[in-house]
Amino acid sequence: MDYIVKPLAKFNKTITAPADKSITQRAILFGALGEKKFTIHNALLGEDCISSLSCAASLGANLAIDEDKGIITITGRELDSADLNVGNSGTAMRLLTGALAGQVGRSFKLDGDDSIRNRPMKRVIKPLTLMGADLGSEADWKAPISITGTTLSGITYETPMASAQVKSAILLAGLYASGETTVVEPLKSRDHTERLLQHYGVNVRTNGRAVSVNASRIVPCDTRVVGDISSAAFPLVLAAAMQGGSVTVKDVGVNLTRSGLLAVLSQCGANYRIFNKRDEFEPEADIELEHAELKPFNIGSSLIPLLIDEIPILAVLACFINGESTITGAEELKFKESNRIKTVVKSLRKMGADIDELPDGMVIRGNGYLAGGATIDSHGDHRIAMSMAVAGALSASGCKILNAECAAVSYPDFYALFKE
Ligand code: S3P
Repeated sequence: MDYIVKPLAKFNKTITAPADKSITQRAILFGALGEKKFTIHNALLGEDCISSLSCAASLGANLAIDEDKGIITITGRELDSADLNVGNSGTAMRLLTGALAGQVGRSFKLDGDDSIRNRPMKRVIKPLTLMGADLGSEADWKAPISITGTTLSGITYETPMASAQVKSAILLAGLYASGETTVVEPLKSRDHTERLLQHYGVNVRTNGRAVSVNASRIVPCDTRVVGDISSAAFPLVLAAAMQGGSVTVKDVGVNLTRSGLLAVLSQCGANYRIFNKRDEFEPEADIELEHAELKPFNIGSSLIPLLIDEIPILAVLACFINGESTITGAEELKFKESNRIKTVVKSLRKMGADIDELPDGMVIRGNGYLAGGATIDSHGDHRIAMSMAVAGALSASGCKILNAECAAVSYPDFYALFKE
């Protein structure tokens, strides 16, 4: 589907953030591993989560889904050997590789779409193999991956990059390994796995950048998923960049390991307020934002893991701030659903931005204006489609997004943001 984005004259809305994709997927996958009936409330039913549901079903879980209410009831059972298709989901691919490696006596094959077949898997295969995993890949350490479940031993592993998917894969393998498994990251990545496993009765020990588990059973219990700050980022930036713009986004997950976006908004001098804060196993709040004159921002490596998925939309914001904004230390962007350093720079340049690529990020010289008028290929990457649609809405002539439907991977109702 191609989507024509028209320039928006105004943006003043109150919306509810779609449920968090990372947390919904974890609840589904951990539910398939636990052997207990439980319910997920406010689940995201985007395409990645549907891929995780289909994997859970192939593994033997019983599912009941109420799509309108976002309610999923899962009854995990002893796992079956299975061929699994993760679709576009890197989270399902990496987490399942770890979780299934120690399922003795069963074998699995994990595959996905073209984008998944191009994403690095060596980063999980290497530590899992050190634990004793029997994993095979047909080409260059990439999907499809075959797994022969075997006995595993715990390790202490220092990951070369901050990646919640890598950390989670190792910790999940650790739940089926002898001894203690510890992951040490260079910078702390999102901690949704740790929080949800604790919620499901697993003793997870965190000590700075180190996280440890021992062999344990997952005992799922009813779970309410908070809203996704990565999705909330689109309306927040739209209102922040538009003269007279304002938005209230309700139910936003504000976990500190995810909310680097808010740190950048503060750095820019954005006029926003966080209120109605509450906390179950993940903190959540409402956010109100009104347009204000903004200053350029500078994002360095220490902030990157806290806003990794928000960089494309922050690059759009930078175009509407007078002066030079920089993003560095973001090499990991090259390994997302597309090479997001290249796709962001190329797309925004087509829209008229003054932007340069760096080996580990980008420099954007904003002047408060984007001409627009371009046709942008999303490369099947949901965050590129949505970021460029926001760029089009803020631009003088709008834009056309090719393969716009991929927004449904994380934000099924995204284009409704542009309806008056
Ligand atoms: C995710 C972790 C991040 C993020 C991705 C979702 C997760 O990936 O970019 O969208 O659910 O754990 P990495 O672990 O590769 O950094």
